[in-house]
Amino acid sequence: MKLDIEFVRAQFPAFDAAPLKGQAFFENAGGSYTCRPVIDRLYRFYTERKVQPYAPYEASTLGGAEMDEARTRLSAILGVDTDELSFGPSTTQNTYVLAQAFAQWMKPGDAIIVTNQDHEANSGPWRRLAERGFEVREWRINPDTGHLDPADLANLLDNKVRLVAFSHCSNVVGEINDVAAICAQVHQAGAVACVDGVSYAPHGLPDVGKLGADIYLFSAYKTYGPHQGIMVIRRDLGMKLPNQGHHFNEASLYKRFTPAGPDHAQVAASAGMADYIDALYDHHIGGDAAPAAKGAAVHDLMQAHEHEMLQPLLDYASAKNSVRLIGPDKAASRAPTVALALQANAEEAAAQLAPHGIMAGGGDFYAGRALEAMGVDMDRGVLRLSFVHYTSKPEVDRLIDALDQVL
Ligand SMILES: Cc1ncc(COP(=O)(O)O)c(C=O)c1O
Repeated sequence: MKLDIEFVRAQFPAFDAAPLKGQAFFENAGGSYTCRPVIDRLYRFYTERKVQPYAPYEASTLGGAEMDEARTRLSAILGVDTDELSFGPSTTQNTYVLAQAFAQWMKPGDAIIVTNQDHEANSGPWRRLAERGFEVREWRINPDTGHLDPADLANLLDNKVRLVAFSHCSNVVGEINDVAAICAQVHQAGAVACVDGVSYAPHGLPDVGKLGADIYLFSAYKTYGPHQGIMVIRRDLGMKLPNQGHHFNEASLYKRFTPAGPDHAQVAASAGMADYIDALYDHHIGGDAAPAAKGAAVHDLMQAHEHEMLQPLLDYASAKNSVRLIGPDKAASRAPTVALALQANAEEAAAQLAPHGIMAGGGDFYAGRALEAMGVDMDRGVLRLSFVHYTSKPEVDRLIDALDQVL
């Protein structure tokens, strides 16, 4: 079964929007296009349900029910309980709140492990725990490949370590880390695993229950949804960590780590992400299945298409002497988030791609630690070409053609 790309693109109004006609979008890792069910739900909420939710009048009851629906359906796809999923303004804010909770919970002499592969969001807030007297250890990437070796993690783990924060997939290296194996390793040492899934989730939602992460974070706005951070915190950990929300909400797991009042409309509209996954499942496969099984099938459909689109780009970049491809050169072991170190300034290269109808960006993408560790010239940065399953073969061909003219 192959992904029906025409069907897929018809679910995204951006592909029909006049200002975007003739533009091929390759900065999806910064934020994807939004699928129609999310836009429709957002519009309906703002026009029909934009009142305080959970009150006993219809507009309010419907609004509250739609917010609950988003958590119920998305958590089911992710293989966790409904109250283990919460929404926050962004992944960066979610990790910030979590780091406050860990700072209160940990004891003197405790340690945490962070990587130098991560985006700053799953790194900086944890590293700041050093200012509160905790030991911070760094799990370092291989400077040539960007790979995180679990053998190096083994050397860092001991009975002082409470937490290991790492990513499912870095937003510049692109390699998919073996999260299940790493979580097992972390648990064996008696620590908990906090996984940044922001660069992975857009390529198919994972079964977080199966992966074994204690915390799994991703950003809805990069996963066809509204501008929200989505956070799974497994019950054992979530009820143990000190509550960061209002004192009267402390028994409610999904409210414990979201001190801000939620964005009602965006939470409700996130149910459209589940609608989209269902629509893909019904169109390609059909029939009855549990939400996590539907999610898994759609995940595989998306990734098969992405691998097919990605390999020619990797082959092109690998063959070009003036370009250093960051991360693996095989599509199967990475996400289509491709960073290239050039002999020129990457932002300028991105600007030169724009007249060719290519939307891409250059810089460090808040992953400067990884790029520096790999010896990338930080004044030049990297050109990042990132796509998702809705990207078509003609768009990738156009990109390679444009790169050939610009690089
Ligand atoms: C891998 C990764 N983690 C975390 C973040 C931060 O997400 P947010 O913008 O929701 O704070 C990003 C954003 O680019 C990212 O790429």
